[in-house]
Amino acid sequence: MGRGRSGAAAVALGLALVAALPFAVTTRYGTNLLILAAAWSISTLGLTVLLGYTGQISLAQATFFGIGAYAVALGTSRWGIDWWLALPIGLAAAGAAGVVLGMTTLKLGGHYLAMVTICFQIIFSQIAINWVAVTGGPDGISGIRRPRFLVPLDTAQQYAWFALGALFLVGVAVWLLKDSALGRSMRAVRENELAAEALGVDSLRVKVTAFALSAVIAALGGALYASGFRYISPDTFSLDQSIEVLAMVLAGGSEAVPGSILGGFLLTFLPEWLRDLKNIYLVVYGAVIILVILFMPEGLWGWARLAGRRLARPAPPRRARRPLAVGGRGEAGEPILALENLGKHFGGLKAVDGVDLTVRRGEIHALIGPNGSGKTTCINLISGLYRPSFGGIRFLGREVAGVRPNRIARRGMARTFQNIRLFRELTVWENVLVGAQRAGGGERAVRERAAAALEFVGLPARAHERCRNLPYGTQKLVEIARALAGTPELLLLDEPAAGLNQTEKQELVDLLRRLHAHGLTMLLVEHDMSLVNQLSEAITVLNFGKKISEGKPGDVLADPVVVEAYLGNRDAALGLAREHA
Ligand SMILES: Nc1ncnc2c1ncn2[C@@H]1O[C@H](COP(=O)(O)OP(=O)(O)OP(=O)(O)O)[C@@H](O)[C@H]1O
Ligand SMILES: [Mg+2]
Repeated sequence: MGRGRSGAAAVALGLALVAALPFAVTTRYGTNLLILAAAWSISTLGLTVLLGYTGQISLAQATFFGIGAYAVALGTSRWGIDWWLALPIGLAAAGAAGVVLGMTTLKLGGHYLAMVTICFQIIFSQIAINWVAVTGGPDGISGIRRPRFLVPLDTAQQYAWFALGALFLVGVAVWLLKDSALGRSMRAVRENELAAEALGVDSLRVKVTAFALSAVIAALGGALYASGFRYISPDTFSLDQSIEVLAMVLAGGSEAVPGSILGGFLLTFLPEWLRDLKNIYLVVYGAVIILVILFMPEGLWGWARLAGRRLARPAPPRRARRPLAVGGRGEAGEPILALENLGKHFGGLKAVDGVDLTVRRGEIHALIGPNGSGKTTCINLISGLYRPSFGGIRFLGREVAGVRPNRIARRGMARTFQNIRLFRELTVWENVLVGAQRAGGGERAVRERAAAALEFVGLPARAHERCRNLPYGTQKLVEIARALAGTPELLLLDEPAAGLNQTEKQELVDLLRRLHAHGLTMLLVEHDMSLVNQLSEAITVLNFGKKISEGKPGDVLADPVVVEAYLGNRDAALGLAREHA
């Protein structure tokens, strides 16, 4: 969508460059630089997947580059096997190492993760230097053979075509990945891991996959490097090089394929252009990188694209062929969610303390209570973000207490958040697509549901705006659309009306009424008593984590215990009185 024509143009331009560059560069030295740039750019594309898409930092890219290089080096020069057999061995080894590294993200993130990857890198360097019997130690390995591809690839020029061709293919693959279901899940995890989990994205699996893919891609770069220069030694696969790959991806623009390639080429050629500066070359080199990162947070490519983006406005998504299938498939009135003696204690604080609650299919069930009474904690328990201290949660007949959020979501639950948790850098359309992925089916089915969900909340016209640029009320609608797109059986709404003006509130009431009419079951946490009174069929009231009242709106809002609980909050108590009157 929108990227079709410009995408085709970019691919054509890429192909033309692949064909022309080895002709344009006439010196042997220049051709070698081309090969070098292609190899490192491929490894940079690995970081595009890992850092750019998934938001995970790694300073071990040279390790995976090295694994690919050693596989081809050992395979072709020592073990006498063909390059085309040594390559997959190297890719598999790198992929496995990537999985191991990715598993550490289960416990670690941010700077801890950075430290772990640095340690991983240092261990690899030490092995490469000290395990002389296999790696040849500091002397390295020579006599590495080149692959045969149509022709034997003996000249530097032929090999440059081969390496650039590989770069081109990896570039296209990484570019296509971005808008696939996996790529969207990666970017959702980067933007907001909790929200992604609550939409059914298995964030650990996505991160491990990203590490593995990134490792395999880097290993391919390493393999091309090794046979390109026919000699390798450990200093090529050091922490310095990993830092350089990181600099390449940041300077170029971490989320864009052309940016990463640009970064890879620039940082390979820059040292050559700066050679005449002799001693101060490293200073200039460092300064250039700092300036780019400082003044172009989205890298050179992101900066160059800003102008272009204003010109090219993609068309809105195609209209859905069918309206959204909201509401479940079961019998109206059957219990679909049951909390039994549910509790959550934070140290000495009893946020939720033995709550029983049953939500029936098709109803709007309100959960109210003064500030801090445990409403959000309940929602977090039900959706799996918190593990209960005690008690049970049955959803659609199965126990879900302690089950990971993405699994609960995939059983048919969706939620919104009290503090909006959108994927801010993604567009409205992309947010809703991630939500639509929960219900499965192919890309077509996902797009169809996403379009229908956008139409349901009336937002197709804003489909291609980035969420962070939207007004608050619209962001809340996007969150609802994103939750609806997965066609859940149960929707949990945590204060959907908070922060909305009167017009927006009325629109929300209309929207929830329409959802109700379609048979969707909702658990609604809300402070606005007028809204609760208009919409809900049953109300449960919490105070200090305990249930203090339950029943039909008229009875509950008049219950003296409830009025008493709300008296601390004058506005809420007045609201109660007004609704009761
Ligand atoms: N992760 C946490 N760690 C420690 N205490 C928490 C945590 N989450 C919530 N609490 C505490 O639990 C109690 C209930 O909080 P909760 O957010 O569930 O209230 P709420 O009913 O949603 O309130 P509000 O109407 O203000 O949103 C509060 O005292 C809160 O400070
Ligand atoms: Mg709350």
